[in-house]
Amino acid sequence: MYRSIKAAPAAAKPQAVVLLLPTGTKPADTPGCPAPDALAALLKQPDTTLAPEWTRTLYHPGQRIGRTLVVGLGDSDKLTADTLRKAAAKALRQLHSAEITAASIHAVGLPIDLDDASIGHAIADGLSLANFTFDTYHGKTKRPEKSKREKPIDLKVVVEEHQRTGFKQGLKVAAGVTTARTLAATPPNVANPKYIAGYCKKLAKDSGLKCTVINASKAKELKMGGLLAVGAGGSTPPCMVILEHNPSGKAKQKPLLLVGKGVTFDTGGYSLKGDGGKGMKYDKCGAMNVIGAMQAIANLKIKRRVVGIVGLAENMIDREAYRVDDILTFCNGVTCEVTNTDAEGRLVLADCLAYGTKAYKPAAVVDFATLTGGVVVALGKRIAGVWSTDDELLAKLKAAGETVGEPVWELPLDDEYRKMMQAKHADLHNSAPVREAHATQGAAFLSYFVGNDAPKQVPTTPWVHVDIAGTSNTDGGTLMEKGPTGFGVRLATELAATL
Ligand code: BES
Ligand code: MN
Ligand code: ZN
Repeated sequence: MYRSIKAAPAAAKPQAVVLLLPTGTKPADTPGCPAPDALAALLKQPDTTLAPEWTRTLYHPGQRIGRTLVVGLGDSDKLTADTLRKAAAKALRQLHSAEITAASIHAVGLPIDLDDASIGHAIADGLSLANFTFDTYHGKTKRPEKSKREKPIDLKVVVEEHQRTGFKQGLKVAAGVTTARTLAATPPNVANPKYIAGYCKKLAKDSGLKCTVINASKAKELKMGGLLAVGAGGSTPPCMVILEHNPSGKAKQKPLLLVGKGVTFDTGGYSLKGDGGKGMKYDKCGAMNVIGAMQAIANLKIKRRVVGIVGLAENMIDREAYRVDDILTFCNGVTCEVTNTDAEGRLVLADCLAYGTKAYKPAAVVDFATLTGGVVVALGKRIAGVWSTDDELLAKLKAAGETVGEPVWELPLDDEYRKMMQAKHADLHNSAPVREAHATQGAAFLSYFVGNDAPKQVPTTPWVHVDIAGTSNTDGGTLMEKGPTGFGVRLATELAATL
């Protein structure tokens, strides 16, 4: 894949022209094509459907611009930002395999509600999402693009003048998405809590964020019994990382608080998973996505205070590891009997939410976590489950999800569900004796930790819990190859920009 994608000035000379065209496009509607006659002939052919993902290449031998890549967008009245993302993704792969290093992309005359900034942004999304690949650990034997070409190349892209601002913003968000996906894909023998904390320190320095690490001994002082228990058997000690975006003039503003589950590997602990936890390196995705979102928010210089807190722990079996039947005390004084060491994410998040809401008095809280298999059963891999205490915040999050193409679906949370999590020998248990309402049990548990009043009643602090167990990784599709998606980075960044 390309080493980088950059916005080039309008004057830059492309080697290829990409036309993103809705069904029914007339030759007169296609500016920028270096071979208008060939294109007119193509558009007349009956099999030129211009359906989504339909593509053709026109070659222009001997001309300065070597080729025109036509990508269909389908019916213009059904066209959304997602159609554009997928078309741009399709184009990216073809440009890459043709080793094009400079292209212009034309999406014009789209009869839809999308403004120019959104069109530019969607094109940047599609190019960047498709461009991601994780090949750091391919040795010499299996590195297809490296054998074809020793040095990775860059792609310079010209878009329509009025779409350029949106395009450049899209690329800034994309850098955060790439960070999240790269960290998520990094294997658990490398990406342990210590590694992630070190990564955050460097990222903070490079992007102007403030970084504070609460290490295990500090966590002990703060009585973070959940974080410490889950990480007790890990290869490196657990920790909490706080990244702050403090734009000037907003020192007193109540921040948006983003919280992420960062279980760098989830074996299940003594409630061991049957397959040892295959794929559970992705159990850190909530945290990696918060880290990526903080990078994007800083790069975009968003004018609101945002604090990101990630809880990092490795859920392993060891002499020191926590047990079933242990009773833990969290930093807000709530106690919990461990009924299943595989319901560990909520124990890590409990301390993050309790500490974060106490220390930062946020205006709104959104947590991201690969929390339950139940949400995958309920909603699959395309839509994330959300539980909320605040309709206004939820409406904004839903709208942000629509805008960026990271959709969320609300599930219920009330006192009856909260009661399911109350235990006999402690305030709570981390897994109810029944499996019903499985994903909601996770949300109900977390609700005891959001704000000071939380243990006693449904929290009054505006809060949304986003369960990304299904959406955090994909089996591969038009937009993204198989692997981590960064689902939540674009959502959280859009929310921060629009809250
Ligand atoms: N990390 C898992 C949830 C998960 C499952 C993520 C599948 C991605 C794909 C979580 O820690 C877990 O193990 N949850 C249990 C909870 C149960 C033991 C109460 C689950 O969902 O089965
Ligand atoms: Mn688990
Ligand atoms: Zn887990």
